[in-house]
Amino acid sequence: MKLILLGAPGAGKGTVAKLLTKIDGSVQISTGDILRGAVNAGTDLGKEAKAYMDAGDLVPDSLIMGIMEERLQEDDCKNGFLLDGFPRTIPQAEALDVLLDKIGAKLDFVVNLDVPRDVIYDRLTTRRTCENPECQAIYNVKSMPSKVEGICDKCGSKTVQRADETVEAISKRLDTYDEMTAPLADFYDKKGQLFTVVATSSDKVVEEVTKKLGIA
Ligand code: AP5
Repeated sequence: MKLILLGAPGAGKGTVAKLLTKIDGSVQISTGDILRGAVNAGTDLGKEAKAYMDAGDLVPDSLIMGIMEERLQEDDCKNGFLLDGFPRTIPQAEALDVLLDKIGAKLDFVVNLDVPRDVIYDRLTTRRTCENPECQAIYNVKSMPSKVEGICDKCGSKTVQRADETVEAISKRLDTYDEMTAPLADFYDKKGQLFTVVATSSDKVVEEVTKKLGIA
């Protein structure tokens, strides 16, 4: 499958992407995970991205497109990919169209995860993420706790709150989403590619997506 997962911070893009990868081996490509990995590794990319991310701002389009040009041409993308957190601006979406043409890939559709704002606030303040950059498993102290508090079930590393999970950064990320990313729903709707699902249950989202893909 070749899908874009669109949705506000905390809508469940990462959670749904991880569930979908298990179905046909398509890879999850999360620009947020790639950037957090670069920050932890202290690379030039990470140093440049860190201040934007901690403040809840978007990283410049040029940096993101550099990452995606390379990533989408890697071999593991041939079976399919789930774009999680990308594109996030109209210029990124336009550049993605050009890139997909160049590599001869065609999107199935764009999944728009619709979740009420109060639910999102609650999810983001209770999320925990595995600090191992190779793992980055997602938990939630209320809805999806790890078996041992503070320890990742999958790799045994610590689970932590992300640097952008302060109340100020969460509000900023939601404002940034409304201003810069929400217009993408209209962009893809006009192209006939938008599939909006109510995302209060991740399993239900997976069910609806696989049904639409004809693989349920
Ligand atoms: P990114 O990592 O993409 O963050 P985000 O969009 O803010 O999304 P989140 O990861 O916060 O949420 P999610 O929708 O994946 O939800 P999750 O599944 O974790 O980006 C971080 C930063 O990087 C950006 O702010 C920006 O600075 C930069 N960046 C990244 N991409 C960029 C780009 N393209 N351009 C420019 N800058 C970019 O779920 C949230 C919580 O809810 C979890 O605890 C989960 O367990 C729980 N949960 C999920 N689903 C359910 C459910 N159905 N029921 C109950 N709980 C649930």
